[in-house]
Amino acid sequence: MSSREIEILENTLLVVADNGQIEVVKPRIGRGEVPALLQARRKTRSQHDDDDTERDDSVVVHYLERTQFFIPGFVDTHNHAPQWAMRGLGQGLHILDWLDRVTFPHEARFADPAHARRVYARCVAGFLQQGVTTAAYYGSRHAAATDVLADVCLARGQRALVGKCNMDRNAPDTYRDADAAESLRDTEACLAHVRALDPERRLLQYVLTPRFAITCTPALLRGLGDIAARSKSEEQPEGLAIQTHFNEAEQEMTSTCSLFPEFRDEVELYAHFGLLTPRTILAHCCYATDDELDRLGALGCGVAHCPVSNMTVGGGFMAAPVRAFLDRGIPVGLGTDSGGGFSSSMLDAMRQALVASNAREVQSGGELKGLTIPEVFHLATLGGARVCGLQGKVGTLEVGKEFDALLVNADPQRPGVMTMVEDEDSLATIFEKFVMTGDDRSIERVYVRGRLVKS
Ligand code: GUN
Ligand code: FE
Repeated sequence: MSSREIEILENTLLVVADNGQIEVVKPRIGRGEVPALLQARRKTRSQHDDDDTERDDSVVVHYLERTQFFIPGFVDTHNHAPQWAMRGLGQGLHILDWLDRVTFPHEARFADPAHARRVYARCVAGFLQQGVTTAAYYGSRHAAATDVLADVCLARGQRALVGKCNMDRNAPDTYRDADAAESLRDTEACLAHVRALDPERRLLQYVLTPRFAITCTPALLRGLGDIAARSKSEEQPEGLAIQTHFNEAEQEMTSTCSLFPEFRDEVELYAHFGLLTPRTILAHCCYATDDELDRLGALGCGVAHCPVSNMTVGGGFMAAPVRAFLDRGIPVGLGTDSGGGFSSSMLDAMRQALVASNAREVQSGGELKGLTIPEVFHLATLGGARVCGLQGKVGTLEVGKEFDALLVNADPQRPGVMTMVEDEDSLATIFEKFVMTGDDRSIERVYVRGRLVKS
């Protein structure tokens, strides 16, 4: 799959090994050839076995109907798990007012780990149901609740980046880290919890999560930058993932400038604290000068484009210049920013990305061309995987990758309102109908690392 074209493989044998990896992708074969191919695989495997290994070679074979097809799972690069229970509220407010009036009071309730368990179970199940196989989650500011979020992702089988939200100022006393030292201690504890849960990072990784510069003292930003620098190792040469909100809205940018007058812009600010690395996920980036684009490109940061929340919460019309990012090779994925905005669906994010890019095209006098369906699908899958540092593992259905996939079923007999499939439709047409009009009802099954997580 390139960002401009989607490769559709028909009549294809796809074999997933016990470890969840895709072992075989063999296109253009007849159904009658499948037993012989599986038999041949069994033989090769037994030749490679040591004499004393015993292996269960039973394979379950599924044949797909004409209306069924697999696509890579969706990667949601920006998601606030504690906002699951407040979605849809406060639309139209400017960002800092929305945080004060709606968001912080809701997130404060996660001081109670029992509340966290209740909401996070629903949240993770809700995203899996909609085909989000990987999510980059902001937790609340509470370490205990964020531990719960990691536990839930692992138990339900969702691939996730999870971070305790860091915020030690400009938030109510009832919802603020006491100071930088406490915030950093809680971060280390939560990081240790996530590492202990999944030492090989099969599903889970910790992501450093300064909410944004407005709610972080310089000492806190510095401390997080230091943790990021210390986390570089042979195994993780680029260190821990980092996520924050960046150039989201005029109100936010003005306030940031007045808190940090010594910096030219947000690139200089976050770079100064060591928070812009190739593992950094910058949510929104609605505004960017050419100079900022150049510096972000050189730093290797990725962008989480959240077109739904950009046009509903924040203030103003904020359509990020995605074409400009792509033209410069800046990695871009899509985020639901669930909480901000009205939708937790990556399909909606894809459609809204089309709308936002068309608006940008008009606004730029035709210079920034609108996105295409293959491009927004790429953003929702492989583009997002790259932003999360997971492009070697997921994002496409290729041999060697892990099987994170959605089984779409466009059968018009099933519940749902997707554009009906006609006898003469090609698979490309069915795919387009799904992307533009399908919903979670058209997603029949969801797999992460080969494990069925929705059926
Ligand atoms: N900026 C700081 N916090 C948030 C948040 O929770 N949502 C959005 N959209 N922007 C933010
Ligand atoms: Fe956000």
